[in-house]
Amino acid sequence: MEGAMNEFVSVNNLTKDYQTESETITALENISFSLERGEFVTIAGPSGCGKSTLLHIIANLLEPSQGTVEIKHDRSNEKQLSELGLVFQKPILFPWSSVIDNILFPLELLGQKKSGRERAMKLIELAGIKGFEEKWPHELSGGMQQRASICRALISNPSLLLMDEPFSAIDALTRLKLTIDLQRIWKEEKITIIFVTHNIEEAVTLGDRVFVLTARPGRLVWEEKINLPRPRDRKTAATSQFQEYCSKIYEKLGF
Ligand SMILES: Nc1ncnc2c1ncn2[C@@H]1O[C@H](COP(=O)(O)OP(=O)(O)OP(=O)(O)O)[C@@H](O)[C@H]1O
Ligand SMILES: [Mg+2]
Repeated sequence: MEGAMNEFVSVNNLTKDYQTESETITALENISFSLERGEFVTIAGPSGCGKSTLLHIIANLLEPSQGTVEIKHDRSNEKQLSELGLVFQKPILFPWSSVIDNILFPLELLGQKKSGRERAMKLIELAGIKGFEEKWPHELSGGMQQRASICRALISNPSLLLMDEPFSAIDALTRLKLTIDLQRIWKEEKITIIFVTHNIEEAVTLGDRVFVLTARPGRLVWEEKINLPRPRDRKTAATSQFQEYCSKIYEKLGF
C-alpha cells in the first residue's frame, strides 16, 4: 500500500444531515479525503457549505450522520498531551487570566501547568507576542489575541491543528502578517494543519492542497495541489501562477 504509509487523517464518506422542524439540511454529502502527517491543507468554500461542520466532526465535537474519521495516534511522541488543537474565528480567552495563564490553561486542567511554562514561552516567542505574556487579554489587539489562541491550541503538543476561519475577523494587514507567521509556526512545530476559509487567496497562500467545497449539499468538488515555494507572501500572490490557481478555484465554485 504505497502512499498510504504516512496516512494520518482519513475522512471516509462523511455525510451530515441537520434536522430542523421543517426540513432536512444536508450540510455535508459523502466527503472523503486523507492527509499525510505534516501537511498543511486548506478547505475553501462559500458560507454554508459545511466547513465548520466538517471541522467539528473531525474534532469529534459532532457526530456524522454517516461515515467515519480516523486519526492515527502518534505513540512515539511522549510530549503530546492531546491529539488536536482548535482555533476558532474569534479568540476565546478568559478575561480574568493573564495571557500566559490562558495559554497554559489546557495544561492546568491536566495538572501540568508548572512544567509547561518553558514551552509556553517558546510558543509566545514563535507567535510574536513576546513581552505580552503578563498582560490581560483586553490589553491585546484582536490579532494578538488570536496569536495567543494559537499558542494555547499548541501548548499540549497536538499533532493536528484545526483552524476555523481564524483570521477572518482581523484587518487585512495583520492578516497578511499572521499568514506568514502561521507558515513559520507550522514548519517549526512540524504539525499537520487543516485550515478553513472562505477566502480563496488565503487558501492558496497557505495550502499544500486546497479542498474546494460547494454548498447545499456540501460537496467536495475539487482538490488543487499548490506547487508554490514557501514561505508564501504578498509577492507570491502577485505571480501569475498564484493567480491561475485562484482563478481555477473560483471557476470550480461557479464564479
Ligand atoms: N445546528 C444546526 N441545525 C441546522 N442546520 C445547521 C446547523 N448547523 C449548521 N447548519 C446548516 O448546515 C450548513 C453548513 O453549516 P456550516 O456552519 O458548517 O457552514 P460553514 O461553511 O462553516 O459556513 P460559514 O462560512 O458561514 O461559517 C448550513 O446550511 C447551515 O445552515
Ligand atoms: Mg463556519
